[in-house]
Amino acid sequence: MVAPRILLIVGGGIAAYKACELVRLIRKAGGSVRCVLTEGGAQFVTPMTLAALSEQEVHTSLWDLKNETEMGHIQLSREADLVVVCPATADLMARMAAGIADDLATTLLLATDKPVLAAPAMNVRMWLHPATQRNVAQLRADGVTVLDPDEGAMACGEYGPGRLPEPPFIWSAIEQRLAAAPAPPAPGVQGGALAGRHVLVTAGPTREPIDPVRYIANRSSGKQGFAIAGALAALGARVTLVAGPVELRTPERVQRIDVETAREMAAAVEAALPADIAVMVAAVADWRAASAAGQKIKKNGSGATPTLTLEENPDILAALASSPQRPRLLIGFAAETEHVVEHAIAKRQRKNADWIVANDVSGDVMSGDSNSVHIVTDAGVESWETLPKTDVAHRLAARIADEFA
Ligand code: C5P
Repeated sequence: MVAPRILLIVGGGIAAYKACELVRLIRKAGGSVRCVLTEGGAQFVTPMTLAALSEQEVHTSLWDLKNETEMGHIQLSREADLVVVCPATADLMARMAAGIADDLATTLLLATDKPVLAAPAMNVRMWLHPATQRNVAQLRADGVTVLDPDEGAMACGEYGPGRLPEPPFIWSAIEQRLAAAPAPPAPGVQGGALAGRHVLVTAGPTREPIDPVRYIANRSSGKQGFAIAGALAALGARVTLVAGPVELRTPERVQRIDVETAREMAAAVEAALPADIAVMVAAVADWRAASAAGQKIKKNGSGATPTLTLEENPDILAALASSPQRPRLLIGFAAETEHVVEHAIAKRQRKNADWIVANDVSGDVMSGDSNSVHIVTDAGVESWETLPKTDVAHRLAARIADEFA
């Protein structure tokens, strides 16, 4: 984008000083920045500093904008290409998520029709608090790009996630956000082939404890499921992504629920119903330890090995297929190492799924970036060429949208 125009809202946290560096980076790249300081933000950086760096007037109060003929809050919120909140404090995100407009920053955020990117920074406990996580999930579902904070030592002496990402990283996220297609309208409002639809996606492995330090798992990376969740959200769907333990960023506009075991995944899926569509991509562990030990299992020096008794996990896909709340379109995955299509055809019938997406996982498909899949439906089998997982995701999302056209 040529000369992006950024509206930068600086919240009240110790990381506010890094917003100054961000202003410098945006200007260096040829962009322009107009800054808004919250009352808290003004405790950490002065309007003078930001005005000098941005070479523009800095706004701090709603009442500065009383003269609507000059620069009203609506105009200020819309003349930028992107609204960036940096640092986004826990309080500011809570007010954004609740739609509160009680100062200039939150009024602009509620009035804007432009995409919003938030770079959170706060104490680790505040970040991990369920209230903050709820607000972040809500903001993402509303279409706000919320960056994950960095992990490390904090100004308050604690350690963990909550540090503001470094300004060059925030700048590259801004570039990416500007390069991406404009945010689809809020779900149910208008536009997007899947607007108004709720899609449930499961992804990643599950982890079944043996004792407090050991578990049974598999090689699933979650990449394919996350890409599908992102592709469906890009078509305007409201997406709930139930994710096993993976190291992946949450796709934009997706509500993510993290789980560990198959039973937790089953409960999260049930809680997320009703859904119009379910895409079950997770590599759910078929078995769990019949009784996970409460303490670490120790070698006793005799050379005797412990016996691990397994029991079967609930089949989430099959349960959903026979549930009274069965989604209208139910899609399962089949990861096979041989006779891929034959197994998939049988699986579709056995599990009463509408479609099965079958893939050969004998190579490095589970952790790799590409996939070759066969779509098994009641009409037959479509075999797609090997594609990057993101392309498989977009093609599958388009195919799903066709069903609902
Ligand atoms: O039986 P299999 O594991 O091969 O079935 C794969 C499909 O079933 C996938 O869609 C997977 O997400 C789903 N599944 C499930 N719950 C299980 C096992 C598999 O939802 N316990």
